[in-house]
Amino acid sequence: MISFDEAIHLVYIAVGNINYPEKFEGLYSPIRYILELKGKKIRPVLCILSYNMWKEDFEEVMPSAIAWEIFHNFTLMHDDLMDKADKRRGEDSVHKRWNENTAILSGDAMLILAYQHIASCPEVYLKELMDLFSSTAAEICEGQQLDLEFESRLEVCQEEYMEMIRLKTAVLLGASLKTGAIIGGASKQDAQLISEFGVNIGLAFQIMDDLLDVYGDPKLFGKNKGGDIVANKKTFFLLKALEMADSKTKECLKQWLKNTNQEHKEDKINAITAIYDDIGIKKMAEDKIKSLYLQARNSLAKISVEEDKKYVLSTFAEQLMNRKI
Ligand code: IPE
Ligand code: IPE
Ligand code: MG
Ligand code: MG
Ligand code: MG
Repeated sequence: MISFDEAIHLVYIAVGNINYPEKFEGLYSPIRYILELKGKKIRPVLCILSYNMWKEDFEEVMPSAIAWEIFHNFTLMHDDLMDKADKRRGEDSVHKRWNENTAILSGDAMLILAYQHIASCPEVYLKELMDLFSSTAAEICEGQQLDLEFESRLEVCQEEYMEMIRLKTAVLLGASLKTGAIIGGASKQDAQLISEFGVNIGLAFQIMDDLLDVYGDPKLFGKNKGGDIVANKKTFFLLKALEMADSKTKECLKQWLKNTNQEHKEDKINAITAIYDDIGIKKMAEDKIKSLYLQARNSLAKISVEEDKKYVLSTFAEQLMNRKI
């Protein structure tokens, strides 16, 4: 079995070896820039670790694993533009370092690059993986659309929130793992189970992302603190606060949501964070993360490979639940 360190090493090498055309520097250098920033690279790692549960080598899976990382970074390039987020992995995001049109067009080129990588999978799996890639990509657009629509809606229930994060974040982890299983020759049932494992890990992962937006150390997390609060994002935290607050606090929250004056943004972040603290939402988020992680483990337990082959993946998933970056 490959270790986590070996898997991430393979990913770094493969990302460094991506070929970009020599011409059109302005189009391709932002792609290299974002891909070579210090990201966790969890999607390709999940893909490789999953594959490795069925097959010992790794060459066959690499282009597809990298396809998911390229695709993920494409969504980030556009997401930062949509979220007006100036920091990514501790550095300027692409639209800030270059400009908005660059983020749009280099992002488009990345989606194509991702397709080219997935199309380099073993030919027997081509149709299945292209379908998985396309349906997952469409779901992520749907999730991002909901995320944007929710910014200007006050009434969003927990179920709608869970569906939004399933689409924008969780299905991508599920698909990365499923890709590894498919190329590894897993049964349909096992491929489905590993995908369910990934979706539950992914839901927990996004709630953790919401948590770190409020409580993370920006130096480690690499994004501006309180970005979700400033953008009125309907995160786990805001929705729980709107649900649990007494009427006076709820009124106060609603007033802050109406306040979009950029000059008040620090006050807004502090005031809303204080409300989260008072109600104790962090603990609720941590409990939810734990319960999703346990659900994920149930799916992993049902997969029909020896238990010791699941070890690297399950430890990695557990670490993701306690991440700081
Ligand atoms: C950020 O993903 C976007 C979310 C789905 C929360 P990651 O937290 O995996 O970002 P990197 O790639 O490690 O920077
Ligand atoms: C991530 O959502 C979802 C996608 C990029 C598809 P966020 O907007 O919460 O991600 P970060 O926090 O900017 O990384
Ligand atoms: Mg964002
Ligand atoms: Mg976003
Ligand atoms: Mg976020």
